[in-house]
This record gives sequence, C-alpha cells and structure tokens, in this order.
Amino acid sequence: MTARSCLSIILAAGLGTRMKSGLPKVMHEIGGLPMVGHVLKALKTAGSERITVVIGPEASALETFVYEQAPNARCYVQHERLGTAHAVLAARPSLEFDADDVLVLFGDTPLVTPETVGKVRQALAEGADLAVLGFETGNPFGYGRLLTENGRLVAIREEKDASEEERGITFCNSGIMGFNGPNVLSLLDAIGNGNAKSEFYLTDAVEIANARGLNVVSVTGSQTETQGINTRAQLASCEADFQDRMRRAAMDNGCTLLAPQTVFFSHDTKLDADVIVEQNVVFGPGVKVAGGARIRAFSHLEGAVVGSRSVVGPYARLRPGAVLGTDTRIGNFVEVKNATFGAGAKANHLSYIGDASVGSKSNIGAGTITCNYDGFLKHRTEIGAGSFVGSNSTLVAPIKLGNGAFVAAGSVITDDVSHDALAFGRSRQVVKEGKAKALRTRLKAEKDGKS
Ligand code: UD1
Ligand code: CA
Repeated sequence: MTARSCLSIILAAGLGTRMKSGLPKVMHEIGGLPMVGHVLKALKTAGSERITVVIGPEASALETFVYEQAPNARCYVQHERLGTAHAVLAARPSLEFDADDVLVLFGDTPLVTPETVGKVRQALAEGADLAVLGFETGNPFGYGRLLTENGRLVAIREEKDASEEERGITFCNSGIMGFNGPNVLSLLDAIGNGNAKSEFYLTDAVEIANARGLNVVSVTGSQTETQGINTRAQLASCEADFQDRMRRAAMDNGCTLLAPQTVFFSHDTKLDADVIVEQNVVFGPGVKVAGGARIRAFSHLEGAVVGSRSVVGPYARLRPGAVLGTDTRIGNFVEVKNATFGAGAKANHLSYIGDASVGSKSNIGAGTITCNYDGFLKHRTEIGAGSFVGSNSTLVAPIKLGNGAFVAAGSVITDDVSHDALAFGRSRQVVKEGKAKALRTRLKAEKDGKS
C-alpha cells in the first residue's frame, strides 16, 4: 500500500470569549508553549505533509508564532466567525492540495498525541469516508454528543441543540475529524446553519455523509488527550494533565523524581536517564540535563544545560545561557546567566555569575558578583582554569582572570589578573593593640556623663 498524503487544518479563529483575555485563546500556554504549538508539534510527528491554520482577523501574534514554529504551514483568515465548518472553508484554497487524508483539528485541544492522530488516519486508510475522534467523559457538558445506532455513528448533536435524552450521552466529540480527501468539499458545502447558534457546524458533516450512504466511523481516544480548553479553569486542569504526562515520561526514561507532583516541566525539557530531581523544582523552557546530574530542591532552571554528574541547588537559579560542564557544583542562592562553567568548576554559595566563563576546576567563593552591566552595556568576565576567587569578591567587567589566578577575599577587581598571579583589591588591615579597651572606657564615660 502506498502511503496516503495528508493535509491538516487547525481551527484557531475562535474569539475564546470565555477566557476573558486580550490574547487569542490558542496562544495561551501549556507547559510554556502556546496551545496551537502543541497541535503543530503532534502533526509534524504524525507526518502531515501540509498544515493549514485558520486564524481570526486580528491575530498577527498568532500568525507570527505559527510561521516561526512551522515555516511550511499556511495561515488563512476567517473574517467572520460563523462556525467550525465555515472556518474550514476559509482554508478552501489549501484543499487544492488533493490530499488523501484531510484532518481537521482544533487549536484549543492541545494534548492530542501523534498516535491518536495516527488512529484517525488508520480508519481512513481502512476505508472510512469520515472518521470522528470521540471520547467518554463523566462530564459531557458543552461537548457535542456522538449519536450512535448499533455502534454506527449517525450524527453529532451540539449541547445547545440536544434534547434532554441526548444530553445524557457521555460519548463526546473531541473536534478532531478525518475526511477522505475527495469527499471533503462537497460535504462542507452542503452544511447549513439552521441550529440554535445559527452557525455552520462542522459536526453536521456526519449526518450529511450518512444520508449519502458514505462510511462514517468513530474512533475512541482518551478524555485527557481530547479535552478542549474554553476557560481559565480548563486551562489549569489541562496544564495539570500535561505535567503528569511529562513526569510520567521522565520516569519512564529513567529519571528519579523524589516528589513528582512538585516538579514542573516545560514542553521541551530534556532529562537523560539517571538524572535525579528533588522536590519543588521548576524547569522553564529550553533545559537539558545530562545523566547522573542531581537537581536539588527548590531550584529554578530556564534555557540551561547541565552536564553529567553536576549538582545544582538547593535553591539555585539557572537562567538562559547557563551551560554547566561535567561534575560542576552550583549551590544555594547562586544565580547563573549566560555563563559557562568548565568541568569540575564550583560556585557553592550566594553568587551572581552573568556573562562569564569559568574555567575547569575553578572555585568561586561565597558572595562573588560579576558586575556585568554598567547601565548601558553588558560586559564579560573571563575566569581561567584552576583559579580561586575568594569570598565576597566583586569582579568588574570587562575583566579577565588567567589560569591559576588567585583573588583575595573581599576584593574589588577592576584590572585583569594574569596566570598564577595573586590579586588583592582591598585596603590593608590596621590593628591597634589595646585600643579597644581605651575606646570602651571613653564611650562609657561619655554615656555616664549624659545620664
Ligand atoms: C466544538 C464542537 C463540539 C466538540 C468541541 C470539542 C462544533 C460545532 N462543535 O464545540 O462538537 O465537542 O468543540 O472541544 O464543531 N473556530 C473557528 N471559527 C469559528 C468557530 C470556531 O476557527 O467560527 C475554532 C475555535 O478557535 C476552536 C475550535 O474552532 O479552536 C472550536 O470552537 P469552539 O467555539 O471552542 O467550539 P466548542 O463549542 O468547544
Ligand atoms: Ca472548544
């Protein structure tokens, strides 16, 4: 059998009024990625050659996002929001692609997996003219109900148009549908708007296809995957499901999560096998952690790479551009931004290391600050290998410390330090023998004189 070609149409023009937001609904994020980005990702993995996104007229941020994420996708504008069938027809020019499979998905249904998309395509490959992805739920409110007769899908009834009896049905429409390509246009063109909302419902394609004697089937997916997001509360519960999915995947891949419910992932977090993550850790976008590393409790990582066997935290903050080599240590209340740490380098306590490179096996003492910003420009600090920066040092960038350099504690370093040099950047200590006692006597006398 030759592979069937596939066009996917993602509907994302709805106003999302129930979100009460200035942002298009599908731009709200799950795991740090806009919902529509999840759908695009799933479709790429499922092997859809063409992807079309139907957007609203004032959705330039959405359009920009789609083209960044999927440069080969096309966006079409639905100028008036007259329903889901009308939205698909806004992408009419893309139907000229003559795909064997035409899939319709919703931008507000982000957790659908490539495997489930594959099941819908499988039904088409097996001869269905129309395949609808349904799911069972204890709370069907708001969803279209799938009406079946002897296991055959005969119609989809929207909540507002359903009878009391039909509302009792718990088998619901996920919104994801597959059409056998050659049928799609004539089915869509036959859909009218004689319903409670006077909208052109895509779901009416089911009754029309049945009336034409076409082969209509339902495919069952899980409720978690097919949940649609219309409100902020649904956004939050979808996020919770997504987090559970990420936690499960991390553990399946060989990571230990000491308290999985307290670890939060981004859509692209990559943890190798044998990473250990302690309690209350947040992974922002763009984090990679190599095997054998340990992320200790209450750490926050974003745009960072952690080398194998490194230990980060507790209470560490890795910001974008933090790249830690193998066997490094980043301890409590240390912030690292746009800085590399060579193998075995350490900053164990209370430091800010930004726009810097720290050579292998160097030790950054407690309270060290790289002064990288002068209010106008950012400057770099370069610290060689095997160097030692004493506690409470201030490194005023741009500055270079050579290999094996040694900075005395409490220094303010404004000039470069060459290889193996010892640098003091502080005033010399003065000790006056017996003077403390004399001072106390004088101060006491002053106090007694006043009272
Ligand atoms: C829709 C389905 C319902 C299904 C539910 C699943 C229809 C008529 N109803 O209802 O059967 O159970 O999704 O979540 O299809 N959109 C447009 N243009 C429009 C209208 C909608 O692009 O004119 C887009 C929206 O951006 C959204 C999707 O289509 O991504 C679904 O629209 P929405 O209004 O959320 O439909 P539901 O009432 O949830
Ligand atoms: Ca919806």
